Amino acid sequence: MDGREGSVPRLDDTQIEQLVSKAWEARLNAYAPYSQFHVGAALLAADGRIFTGANVENASLGLTMCAERVALGAAAAAGVRSVAAIAVAGVDDDGVVPCGACRQVLNEFSPKMLIIRCRPDGSHSVTSLNELLTSPFTGESVEKGKNPSREPVGAA
Ligand code: THU
Repeated sequence: MDGREGSVPRLDDTQIEQLVSKAWEARLNAYAPYSQFHVGAALLAADGRIFTGANVENASLGLTMCAERVALGAAAAAGVRSVAAIAVAGVDDDGVVPCGACRQVLNEFSPKMLIIRCRPDGSHSVTSLNELLTSPFTGESVEKGKNPSREPVGAA
């Protein structure tokens, strides 16, 4: 259930239901006085540990942290480098989908992790990160940019 190499991780129904429930639970701790849009996330690491997050807004609105990135930060700080899945819970009939910035950040460790969108009626849908983010910016791009012989044509 790695999510980096090979195929999309496989989770059984019990694992998915557990993540859904933990994402809703995490949502209760959302700090969203500005948008009132409360989001919770529950992330399953490849080693089986679960980390949660909620959105944390700020008076300087652009400094707001999304639930997914809070969960990923908690996981990474605990040593996680491979993620199987993340469930996201919020009041959207289609299920909250991670924003573009979160997709990019989630991609860092596991481009094929499962994204579980929890709907308010208790149902959920499952997709994979690589379906939502088809052209991530990666470490390979950074490496290529370090090549001094590849200065752009037209650069002064
Ligand atoms: N938000 C998340 O936490 N996750 C998402 O996937 C979408 C948006 C938060 C950010 C902000 O606090 C609020 O929802 C409204 O955008």
